[in-house]
Parts: sequence; structure tokens; C-alpha cells
Amino acid sequence: MHLDRRSLIGGALCAAAMPLLPMRTLAAPDDMPTDMAAFIAAMPKAEYHVHLEGTLEAEMKFALAKRNGVTLPYADVAAMKRSYVFHDLPTFLKVYYEGMNVLLTEQDFYDLCYAYLAKAHSQNVLYAEMFFDPQQHIDRGVPIAAVIGGITRARADAEAKLGIGSQLILCFMRDLTAENAMAALDAALPYKDKLVGVGLDSDEKDNPPSKFAAHFAKARAAGLKVTAHCDVNQKDTLEHLREALVDIAVDRIDHGGNILQSPELIAIAKAKDMAFTVCPSFSGKVVVDGQPVEVVRGMLDRGLKVSINSDDPAYMGSNYITQAMAEAQVRSKLTKAELVRISRNAFDTAWITPDRKAGYQAKLAAFAKARGVAA
Ligand code: ADE
Ligand code: ZN
Repeated sequence: MHLDRRSLIGGALCAAAMPLLPMRTLAAPDDMPTDMAAFIAAMPKAEYHVHLEGTLEAEMKFALAKRNGVTLPYADVAAMKRSYVFHDLPTFLKVYYEGMNVLLTEQDFYDLCYAYLAKAHSQNVLYAEMFFDPQQHIDRGVPIAAVIGGITRARADAEAKLGIGSQLILCFMRDLTAENAMAALDAALPYKDKLVGVGLDSDEKDNPPSKFAAHFAKARAAGLKVTAHCDVNQKDTLEHLREALVDIAVDRIDHGGNILQSPELIAIAKAKDMAFTVCPSFSGKVVVDGQPVEVVRGMLDRGLKVSINSDDPAYMGSNYITQAMAEAQVRSKLTKAELVRISRNAFDTAWITPDRKAGYQAKLAAFAKARGVAA
């Protein structure tokens, strides 16, 4: 996948197991009426599906490499960005994990997290829950205290200086061993007050949620929430969704677009009021009854609680949440009322107190009312 935003591919990373659709061009928010673009930009937002390491911009990689004396295999930022060419989840993950080699100190994690929160704040994100991949850092010899410490300090500063709230979700890398993930969880549990939940990411092929049942149970016993990636069009996708929903009983699902192919799983998800954090850059279309369906449109129409998120924006043409929403608006033909509904779903999805949730919802309702949007 090339980084030029006009050639970004919705659904390119879905192609891993089931290349269903030809690569497509990013629906061009440039063509969007300015009042819709302004509406999306100004709308109060929440974000739940963003990998902090996926916000590591090429410019910051060069700055951190210089600070840490790391040699990068690219001459400059432009050459690095040209290397961001992916055709499936494994090829993306290779670049994504290599990129982390410049993250070595507590200050590096502070800078990474603060930069994301400042960017999110500039796009009217009021609240974010962010993923990080501790195994990748521990295995490179970076102490977990530096990782969680830097992120936590950035969160506190961003809240104090910018007013943006945030929490942190530890992800298990499902393509590493269960023992490796358990060791990371054990290393992180002394810092559990800095975490809100655990998640499951990386390469899903032959790595079902059930592989981490003991990890989820231990995290839950420690008071943490549970979420899991069910990437789109993966091998055994419906079985993985079922395991996440029923066996693990996750608190929410990241991506999860293939649920549209199963009326039974849709019914279970609706009964649980399950939230889905969808990322248009990754989740393109799924085929339902022989027809391609946009995941956001399909979930909305079936009454599922969908939110729109950015995933790994530094690798997706620096498309953060506003651009992700603009892309989804074009692709799924979202009305302003539907965009407000999606943002309301997002605030509803937050792992925060009811009071705080109500405060965010009131801001969103005031925004909609001021613009004459029935919400
Ligand atoms: N790690 C970072 N981004 C990811 C994604 N979209 N899916 C799975 N693992 C990831
Ligand atoms: Zn993700």
C-alpha cells in the first residue's frame, strides 16, 4: 500500500486470507462539500482503536533515531515513506514492528504518546483509549517501566495542558507464544492502575482468541477490561468472532466486519450491546450474500454499535480520525445524523464512569443541536 493518500486502499489489508475485492482508491474527502468536511472536523470525537506505535510518524522515527544513535535503513523521510507498501496484514506488521526499533527510552514513549494526543486533540478528540504492544518492547530489552511510565506521563500532561482524556490498553501479540504474552502481562500487572484493559492484535491467522483465554481471565481478575481484534476477512473469521463474543465474552471487538456475514452472531452481539471499533483504512468491504458491503454502512444498518477509528495512522498516509471519518462518510454515504450517532456510540463505548460519559455526550448533543442535526 502506498502512502499517497489518493492511492490508499480501503480494505487492502483485508486481502490476507481472502482477496475478495480489487484494490480501491481512497474515497476522496477532497471532493466532499466543505460544510460536511467542517462538520466532521468540528464534531466531538472519541477514539478506541489506535495503536500508539502505529502513530510513529516517519519524521519522529528520524528524530528518535538521531537521539538514540540508531541507524535507519533509509536515506530520508521520503524514502522511508516510500517503503510503506503493504499488501496484507503480515507485510504491514513487518514494517510496523521494524519501525519500533527507535523507541528505547521513557522519553521516547512520552514523545510518541504526547504527539498522538496533541494530534487527536487538534481533531476534537475529547477522549481516547490507546493500544500498545509491550512484548515487542520487552523483547528488545526496553523495560516495561519505561514504556508504561513514558506513556502515563504523556497522558497526564496532555490531560493537564490540552484537556484530552485517555487510557491505555495492553495488547497481546497473538502470533507470539502464549508464554511470551503471559510474561508481558505479568510484567505489566504491577502497573495495572495505569491500564484500563487488555487487547489482542498482530497476525490473526491460526491465532484464535481462545489461545489467550488464560490471559484474558487473569487480566479480568485484575480488574481490567477485555477487547480483541477480529481483523477483516481472516481465516476462520466467524469462529474467531464467536470465540471472542461467546467464549471469552469480550467487552468489545476491534474491527469485526465479518460479523455482517452471520445473522446468528449479529443477534448475539446486539443482545450484548457489543461495540465494534472499525477502522475504514483497514476494514474495507465484506461480501454478504454475494454483495460487497461497506463495514460501517452494514453495521449501522443492522443496528450494531459501530465507531470509526484510525488504527495505524502514521502508516496510512497520516490519516487520523477526522480523515478516517471523512473516508467513511464518502464510502458509506453517512448523513450528519449518522455521524453524530457514530460519535455517540463512541462515547458510549468508553471505559469510564457514567458521569464522565454523560459529560462527553452532552458536548456532542450541544454540537448537534447547534447545527440543527436531530440526534
Ligand atoms: N497491530 C497494529 N495494527 C494492527 C492491525 N490493524 N491488526 C492487527 N494487529 C495490528
Ligand atoms: Zn488495530
